[in-house]
Amino acid sequence: MTALSGKTVLLIVGGGIAAYKCHELIRLLKTRGCRVRTILTRAAEEFVTPLSLASLSGEKVHTALFNLTDEVEMGHIELSRAADLLVVAPATADLLAKMAHGLADDLASTALLATDKPVLAAPAMNVRMWRHPATQRNVKVLDGDGIRFVGPNDGEMACGEFGPGRMAEPAEIVGAISSLLQPKDQPLAGRKVVITAGPTREPIDPVRFISNHSSGKQGYAIAAAAVALGAETVIVSGPVSLPIPPGAQVLRVETARDMLVACEDEMPCDIAIFAAAVADWRVDQIADQKMKKRRTGPPVLSLTENPDILKTIAGKTSKRPTIVVGFAAETEQVVANAQAKLKKKGCDLIVANDVAEGTGVFGGDRNTVHLVSRAGVESWPAMSKQDVSTKLMHRLVLMLRADDRKS
Ligand code: C5P
Repeated sequence: MTALSGKTVLLIVGGGIAAYKCHELIRLLKTRGCRVRTILTRAAEEFVTPLSLASLSGEKVHTALFNLTDEVEMGHIELSRAADLLVVAPATADLLAKMAHGLADDLASTALLATDKPVLAAPAMNVRMWRHPATQRNVKVLDGDGIRFVGPNDGEMACGEFGPGRMAEPAEIVGAISSLLQPKDQPLAGRKVVITAGPTREPIDPVRFISNHSSGKQGYAIAAAAVALGAETVIVSGPVSLPIPPGAQVLRVETARDMLVACEDEMPCDIAIFAAAVADWRVDQIADQKMKKRRTGPPVLSLTENPDILKTIAGKTSKRPTIVVGFAAETEQVVANAQAKLKKKGCDLIVANDVAEGTGVFGGDRNTVHLVSRAGVESWPAMSKQDVSTKLMHRLVLMLRADDRKS
């Protein structure tokens, strides 16, 4: 059973190149037991065919507003009300503008205006269109109206430009749909979870920095799992290009010191999870101007140690989170090193993973972890970062309950 089984999604496909991703989106939703009804805008029909989407979804695909047969079988109001959730993907600049202004001049915009169900939009457009004040204004209006967003992501666009505007990947959209359709049994309702994620970036001069390959995927997946359990969820995030999990709040930071300050500001909380790959060192003296090549040879960078955020927060005597979780990325003696780290950092749980070459953990979608606590070691089989996150959050709920019983 998933949050999606037995649910109906009304998928509204806008006219953009990203429309091709709807095939995969429908397939993923169907494999999770979800019924998918689809509306194509007229422009979307230029990119995907009703026939291909009907074959994948196993349902009739709706296209024009005034189709009398459709109106007799299922009117457009009914179409949008019979769904548990409406998903607009790709949500083009034009569709967002229509939604923001309440226009209803075709089946897609009419269904969106007629619905009383949650709406999730996955924007996709050229980076300049996304950044245009008119689009940003519309997004703000829609946000105020309670429309949820997933993406857009940063990356290269079909038009050759680079920046925010790529539609979220189908798996991310499914994740966002799942958390919106999650049953309201939420053991972390009223609880606060703070998660650090991604790398830190330590400047050398105005154009250079020291950083690492952390993608932030594991931390963001944990945040989505925390939201699904009803927690007030704050991600203190280094520079990553990942969509914000719907319902989570993101505080963007660059350096380790900024990350520590942001974490301190968020204390106290019930659970703090330190999944960020914090740079151990920073440059002692950041150059004011771009460093130039010199005849005397390359400059020597003098490094100084960064604060250990996990250790600092775990060692607090006031405002310490009830449960503090660290991550340990190890290339050898994974469990033994994690046990030593548990003691050294003073946390309650270490999630240890093997990041030796070839494991594909950095930037990948799967992870093999060991949970190391004072109670012992529990090794989990390889699974997706999403599954690690869900299992981990459920485990933390149990730890929190045990702590509630003590006090
Ligand atoms: O010491 P090491 O980097 O292996 O420890 C990993 C754990 O400590 C992770 O949970 C990481 O987020 C956290 N950490 C931190 N601040 C640092 C270094 C690591 O919070 N400066």
